Amino acid sequence: MKKILITGGAGYIGSHTAVALVNSGYEPVIVDNFSNSEKSALEGIKSILGREVKSYEVDCLDKNGMEKVFQENDFSGVIHFAASKAVGESTRLPLKYYSNNIDSLIILLELMSKYKVKDLVFSSSCTVYGQPKVLPVTEATPRQDAESPYGNTKKICEDILRDFILSGAASRIVALRYFNPVGAHPSSAIGELPIGVPANLIPFVTQTAAGIREKITVFGNDYDTPDGTCVRDYIHVMDLADAHVKALKYLSEQKDNFYDIFNVGTGNGNTVLEVIKTFEKVSGQKLNYEIGPRRTGDIEKVWANTDKINKVLGWDAKYTLEDSMRDSWNWQVKLGKK
Ligand SMILES: NC(=O)c1ccc[n+]([C@@H]2O[C@H](COP(=O)([O-])OP(=O)(O)OC[C@H]3O[C@@H](n4cnc5c(N)ncnc54)[C@H](O)[C@@H]3O)[C@@H](O)[C@H]2O)c1
Repeated sequence: MKKILITGGAGYIGSHTAVALVNSGYEPVIVDNFSNSEKSALEGIKSILGREVKSYEVDCLDKNGMEKVFQENDFSGVIHFAASKAVGESTRLPLKYYSNNIDSLIILLELMSKYKVKDLVFSSSCTVYGQPKVLPVTEATPRQDAESPYGNTKKICEDILRDFILSGAASRIVALRYFNPVGAHPSSAIGELPIGVPANLIPFVTQTAAGIREKITVFGNDYDTPDGTCVRDYIHVMDLADAHVKALKYLSEQKDNFYDIFNVGTGNGNTVLEVIKTFEKVSGQKLNYEIGPRRTGDIEKVWANTDKINKVLGWDAKYTLEDSMRDSWNWQVKLGKK
């Protein structure tokens, strides 16, 4: 069985990917410092799989700790999820973001070179596109100046990967630009753990329905979109996890010194009000929401052209927005008032 290191594997997307990897015959090994996750995620993974996944409590910035993980395991590939991801916090603590997100990647690339681990899947984001002039966005759509230090770290990390390959490194690398990950494992054993006040729409929706928050504010209804509210491409985390498995398989078929980028979205855009209505329909909950002013920094509309990942990786989104809302709600019900 091919061993895959998943940094940030106790997190939202990493935990679902750990499950998908085992189900596809890989052996994931998780490294996490639990700065934005809880050890209960490992229990959740275990309850789905019926067995434990090997894990290390190590900080990716701790080079010696990471080196020990490489020494103890013969990895055939790495998926690098570990990063700080709160856009708002990144504007207040930019150095934390530049350090955690960029230094962790550099340390990883150095260790991968030293231990001759060639294949890397990197978590990038549609945030690199900013507000695109033409929709849907393809991988060839020009990137724009980042709206936040967080977004900038993704851009810089992509540039580091490109330059690393341009330098002649024997590696094979794919960056996946995620659109908006939502949903949870259908068993509700793992999902997105809310830390603090959520900045993303779906945890806010489910927490409001659960009575944790009094109401949800829709930021602006005067955008140039079908109902005036912002449009995003919501991708179910199970589909997203599957894209990583397909990317790893694809990398194993490539020659050395390879780098490519793929959008991971559904190819459909949904407005905030469509999301709210869909949530109300599948959950049977009435949401207390109000329309407020626009929020600074919000992109009006963005959704993915997924032709490339459909054709090249043979990957397609299978879950619908209804599935995503149902699974997010079931996960919130399991969390209770958390
Ligand atoms: N969720 C999204 O909306 C989204 C969208 C686009 C891209 N991404 C990217 O996908 C990746 C995974 O996101 P997620 O939503 O699963 O986030 P998450 O916070 O749930 O998971 C990240 C995990 O990494 C761990 N971590 C952070 N810094 C670490 C370090 N220095 N050493 C070890 N572990 C560390 C955290 O404890 C957490 O378990 C991130 O790189 C994120 O930027 C996420």
